[in-house]
Amino acid sequence: MDDKKLISDAMNFVSDLLENNSGGHDTAHSLRVYKNALEIAGNEPGCDMTVVSLAALLHDVDDHKLFDHENNENAREFLSNSGVPNEKIEEICSVINSVSFSKNRGKKPETLEGKIVQDADRLDAMGAIGIARAFAFGGEHGRSIEESVMHFHEKLLLLKDEMNTESARKIAESRHAFLEEFLSHYYEEIKSE
Ligand code: ADP
Ligand code: NI
Repeated sequence: MDDKKLISDAMNFVSDLLENNSGGHDTAHSLRVYKNALEIAGNEPGCDMTVVSLAALLHDVDDHKLFDHENNENAREFLSNSGVPNEKIEEICSVINSVSFSKNRGKKPETLEGKIVQDADRLDAMGAIGIARAFAFGGEHGRSIEESVMHFHEKLLLLKDEMNTESARKIAESRHAFLEEFLSHYYEEIKSE
């Protein structure tokens, strides 16, 4: 397998598929998750970089909010057309399936690669980009600003304590502090007296 070509093909595949989505599952999100995953993986000796890279790039290509897919159909089609061996395809799909917050509440991924990609995805729901995504998602789903702020308390502020890896925990700390700072300004600015 030529990893470089595989990764650039995966980027093109993702951008063709997700380009027009504004609700947070867009190409740019996948590329940021890939970048976060590479940064975390740099501190995790022994992880399989090919699996980490492809799972990060492809983690949303069968998302249930966008597709009615049961079995990672888009990811499998891309990987098998690219000549990735079956056992690697299984590994990559099982990492992808262990990443989602909603599907796996409370359950940690079993593999190191799953832990890395899950942390990478969760980091993108925190900090300045996490704030932007929450309001973009809320707007797209007809939710008010106040309703989107509820999501901070229900999910975003909990993520810092759920990181699997040490290096993600460090990045999460400053992103969490920025969420707190945003909320303190927000409540100050909207208070009525
Ligand atoms: P995952 O891929 O982990 O399942 P989601 O698809 O739930 O994540 O969320 C995608 C993006 O939309 C994230 O940035 C998340 O914080 C945001 N989001 C999800 N649900 C809501 C909500 N009810 N209100 C505002 N933002 C949301
Ligand atoms: Ni994602």
